[in-house]
Amino acid sequence: MAKVAFIGLGVMGYPMAGHLKAKGGHDLTVYNRTAAKSEKWAVQFGGRTAATPAEAADGADFVFCCVGNDDDLRSVTTGKNGAFETLKAGAIFIDNTTASAEVARELDAAATARGAHFIDAPVSGGQAGAENGVLTVMCGGDPEVFERAKPVIDAYARMVGLMGPAGSGQLTKMINQICIAGLVQGLAEGIHFGKKAGLNIEKVIEVISKGAAGSWQMENRHKTMNAGKYDFGFAVDWMRKDLDIVLTEARSNGAKLPVTALVDQFYADVQEMGGNRWDTSSLLARLEK
Ligand SMILES: NC(=O)c1ccc[n+]([C@@H]2O[C@H](COP(=O)([O-])OP(=O)(O)OC[C@H]3O[C@@H](n4cnc5c(N)ncnc54)[C@H](OP(=O)(O)O)[C@@H]3O)[C@@H](O)[C@H]2O)c1
Repeated sequence: MAKVAFIGLGVMGYPMAGHLKAKGGHDLTVYNRTAAKSEKWAVQFGGRTAATPAEAADGADFVFCCVGNDDDLRSVTTGKNGAFETLKAGAIFIDNTTASAEVARELDAAATARGAHFIDAPVSGGQAGAENGVLTVMCGGDPEVFERAKPVIDAYARMVGLMGPAGSGQLTKMINQICIAGLVQGLAEGIHFGKKAGLNIEKVIEVISKGAAGSWQMENRHKTMNAGKYDFGFAVDWMRKDLDIVLTEARSNGAKLPVTALVDQFYADVQEMGGNRWDTSSLLARLEK
């Protein structure tokens, strides 16, 4: 049993912290900006709450974090009352936020300066993956530090991989989002075409999902896409934040991402339709407009 802190009890962080307590059996202290959520979490799982990230991290062996973007991450780490004020020597800070590789390298240097360690560990698998404790975790950091952190991360994960030094987890998550962007647009166009052709979409997917076109998105999203339901899942606003990180990184490493850049603009159209919180599969709604 380790002394663990968790910062950021959102859609993802709340159940992930729950698994660290209930499945991992660790001694948990949680912090959330909106205190009502951390109080609710403590009642449900039986851990302690802290008033600031610094208070949560004080004395912890492992400090987890899952907030929104780079600025939120800086605020809860190196900002006033941030976790890095109290992060002890030898402690490991594990960041599950989807953020830039640049902020990961920056926080790795800041943790090292304190004699502590940093692992960027963005996740894939969505709200259901977090609730069921079966996330895919893409890590960047030192191999020895990773070996110490992995058994703790395992509490909410099905797959945990070390991809390289600090920032490599975030770079891997960028590849994940590049692959999803083009794939979801292809799926939306396929369903759109099938409807125009007068085919039974359920029947079409039942057959082609077993062939070379099959994918997680096809299996898990075709029913709701066919029904025009998007009020759930991974929000378009989050996807645009992720694609901005991807396209910024591509400008610096020279990668050519024409389809990703185009799909990013399609998501901007969905936002204009009022779909900020719709699931990313809402690219179909744009075609049907
Ligand atoms: N949702 C998904 O399906 C999914 C899948 C994979 C990856 N992710 C990534 O995981 C991260 C979290 O996503 P989520 O869906 O859990 O988001 P969310 O429900 O909006 O939760 C965000 C959390 O961060 C906290 N926060 C944000 N800004 C903060 C700040 N400046 N200071 C302190 N706390 C702050 C929020 O506190 P409050 O409660 O006070 O607002 C909340 O606890 C994002 O980077 C997202 O891209 C999400």
